Amino acid sequence: MALPQEFLMELKYRNDIESVLSTYIALKRRGSNLVGLCPFHNEKTPSFTVYPENGSYYCFGCGQGGDIITFTMKMENLDYIDAVKKLADRAGLRLPEDNKDDKQQRLKNDIYAVNSEAGRFFHSVLMSPQGKAGLDYFLGRGLSLKTIKHFGLGFAPDDWHALENHLKSKGFTDYVIAAADLTAKSEKKDKNGRQFTYDRFRNRIMFPIINIHGKVIGFSGRAMPGNEKQGGKYINTSDTLVYKKSHNMFALNFAKKDCSKQAILVEGNMDVIALHQAGFTTAVAALGTSFTEEQARLLARYTNEVVLTMDADSAGEKATERALGILSGVGVNIKVLRLPECKDPDEYIKKYGNARFQKLIDNAFSAIDYRLLLAARGIDLEATDGKLKYLNKACEVLATLNDPIAVELYTGRLSGKYGVAKDRLQAIVKNVQDNKKRQQSRKELQEVIAPTVRRDDVNPQKLQFKRAATAEEAVISALKRHPDMLEYVKSRLDPSDFLTDFNRRLFERIVSIIETGRDFDLVLLGDDFSPDEIGYITKMLLVGAADTNHEKVISDSIDVILAERKASDKPDISGLDDEAWALAMADIIKAKKK
Ligand code: UTP
Ligand code: MN
Repeated sequence: MALPQEFLMELKYRNDIESVLSTYIALKRRGSNLVGLCPFHNEKTPSFTVYPENGSYYCFGCGQGGDIITFTMKMENLDYIDAVKKLADRAGLRLPEDNKDDKQQRLKNDIYAVNSEAGRFFHSVLMSPQGKAGLDYFLGRGLSLKTIKHFGLGFAPDDWHALENHLKSKGFTDYVIAAADLTAKSEKKDKNGRQFTYDRFRNRIMFPIINIHGKVIGFSGRAMPGNEKQGGKYINTSDTLVYKKSHNMFALNFAKKDCSKQAILVEGNMDVIALHQAGFTTAVAALGTSFTEEQARLLARYTNEVVLTMDADSAGEKATERALGILSGVGVNIKVLRLPECKDPDEYIKKYGNARFQKLIDNAFSAIDYRLLLAARGIDLEATDGKLKYLNKACEVLATLNDPIAVELYTGRLSGKYGVAKDRLQAIVKNVQDNKKRQQSRKELQEVIAPTVRRDDVNPQKLQFKRAATAEEAVISALKRHPDMLEYVKSRLDPSDFLTDFNRRLFERIVSIIETGRDFDLVLLGDDFSPDEIGYITKMLLVGAADTNHEKVISDSIDVILAERKASDKPDISGLDDEAWALAMADIIKAKKK
């Protein structure tokens, strides 16, 4: 599905990078560029740089880079064509027609449709005599019929083919049903040599997973009580074309309209549902994964504050720690709610009711208070050495605060409580902070001057052909900025001279773009190069940008490539026996004399 270059250039022209990126991150001007905190990794000092001049960005901290399209793909968790569509919408552009028959898009639409039908099926089974056990279970856990309907809950019959047969009767193909991960294949074959397919979800209560656009993208199925050991307590849809569990959150489709001030993050689907039923409609859960960075970013788009409300057990504590770390990097305020004596929010709210849960929310710990609390754990605060130990740990916690006034307040509090001068505590905090800063800037410097690109997986051959690959990149980079050099480059260099396949592919592409009379632009690469590859190219183009004498750079680099090519074309003589070796040497000497 190649989009016309004219369209892509217009897309870029109408979506200037500064305004596109500014809707996600705060950018500050620095010279002719802009800098900000990288949205793709955790950082305290900005190493994310935007180059309005050519419409690209690059993060010196994590090596992510690209253009408006790759950025939109990553931020919005979209594939290439959907990212292009989003940007086109933003600019009021219409996508060129021929994408209608994009195969992948069609399959996606089919998966949405089959999921939606499966959801209807599970729900209607739940409401039928066949689903009585499931309905009893939900009602037994205190859900009302209204809630059951609202969440589209369902029941998968205890049958190997019930769903499959139903979907086929509605005209869905085996292929689409399997692509939605609703069926699985068994090892066994029938008498015609075909593998058996069977329903993945059987005898389970079903939770449809609905994305923020209201589409059913997958399912979570819980075993009936007593059956948790068979096949797992929960079975979740694996990743499909329309579903990536690490990129979605359960119930965000409902929570998104109410949660701009605050969202409640819990562990379980049942917790979410119980909270929504009780009126806490901002509750969401990670989908059977440990909370991911993508989920944090997704959540941060809809809310300013997240209240971590994990189960009151050691797993919940671990999950809290993880979520604290991840969320602190995406610019939301964090609170930690600790459930006294109850296992999870569902249980708490049943036992003590709404008002008390609301109180817990209102009194939730700030992230710092929570960390200070943990720092005290296992320490005897009555003993002098215990106090000392705690204060040191506490200062390390306070060193994570960016706000000097907050440091002032907290050290004041500790000083009052433990009888140590505030100045002294502040000095320790500052010391920890300075050390960290030093480490951080050292790390960032290393990233910038690192001779090898971080993500060598884009061009793995670079390890083997270091010199040649560097020269290839220099030629590509210079050619991009000086397309008038094309004739000269072509007169000396053939794509077959390239030693690394990736650079050859890129070179050929750039040449073909320049030959159409157009300047090369990142935005024109999107349908042939992956976002990671585009990130790599962004860096490649940056590195060369400082060259002053591009003609010399090009000609010297071509010398290097040709020399390396020649060297690599020499027959490999390392494994030959004596006689063969002598013959090979003779060949090489002959070739040299020519
Ligand atoms: P829990 O075991 O706490 O389940 O797992 P729960 O949601 O509280 O369910 P009840 O109250 O015991 O019925 C929390 C979440 O972790 C995921 C599910 O999303 C679940 O909601 N999970 C758990 C899995 O994906 N697989 C499992 O085997 C277990
Ligand atoms: Mn739970």
